[in-house]
Amino acid sequence: MTKQFAVIGNPIEQSRSPELHHAFAAKTGVDLNYKKILAPLDGFESAVKAFFNQNGVGMNVTVPFKEQAFALCDQLTERAKIAKAVNTLWMQDGKLYGDNTDGQGLVAAIQALGWNLENSRILILGAGGATRGVIYPLVQAGVKQVVIANRTLARAEQLVEDLKDAVANAVLQAISLEQLTGEFDIVINATSASLTGDALQLPESLVFHHAYEMAYGKPSSFLDQAQARQVPATDGFGMLVGQAIEAFYIWNKVKPELKDFL
Ligand code: ATR
Repeated sequence: MTKQFAVIGNPIEQSRSPELHHAFAAKTGVDLNYKKILAPLDGFESAVKAFFNQNGVGMNVTVPFKEQAFALCDQLTERAKIAKAVNTLWMQDGKLYGDNTDGQGLVAAIQALGWNLENSRILILGAGGATRGVIYPLVQAGVKQVVIANRTLARAEQLVEDLKDAVANAVLQAISLEQLTGEFDIVINATSASLTGDALQLPESLVFHHAYEMAYGKPSSFLDQAQARQVPATDGFGMLVGQAIEAFYIWNKVKPELKDFL
């Protein structure tokens, strides 16, 4: 029987998840159908319940519902608990399970580029939900130091406070954007600045060897600056594919290879 999947969000038209999951299915021989669900802003819970009541197997959750999905779950994975956000849902023994595969998607994408994470020192720009979701998986992958730089320093400090016990084997530090300096193996842009078209100015005293922009398909002043410095740099398409592969693996117990879909 064809297994039913969906991605739910608002807006949802732009989502590339159906195309990715159908490509994984074609490659691995899984019989599935994956559709988009546009939920009204006040109708997330009823849309999720209706989907699983109609024998839906798994659902991805995107903006703006990841925190609501987290609150709705009966069972959460460790990384979802730490992220306080869920992007992957499924039913098991009558219970709604939630995971967050975004961070592992980023780790897989960075590893596929051949950029070393083991014992590395990483700078993350931004202290919102996107940053919260990736710190624990990065540290699990061997990152030893994470500096979180945010326009609003207090928000970065709060994030470090919230996460420091969960990532006790790495050093976390919060700074403001004005304090940006030093040398890093990788800089990750997790601000929404590219999405709104705002420029993010990286000072000359900031040295970095690789640059990862979490957004994709948008002009990015962050990527422009990395490229001007001739530093290896990429947008977030690999992360998108990586998180989709992790969700596909949870639901279908077979893992497509990231490099086949980049
Ligand atoms: P997300 O869930 O995508 O992380 P968010 O929680 O709204 O979205 O967080 C957006 C992040 O981008 C924040 O860190 C925000 O900084 P503030 O905490 O100071 O608001 C950052 N951000 C957004 N626009 C920015 C800009 N023009 N320059 C610098 N940082 C920006």
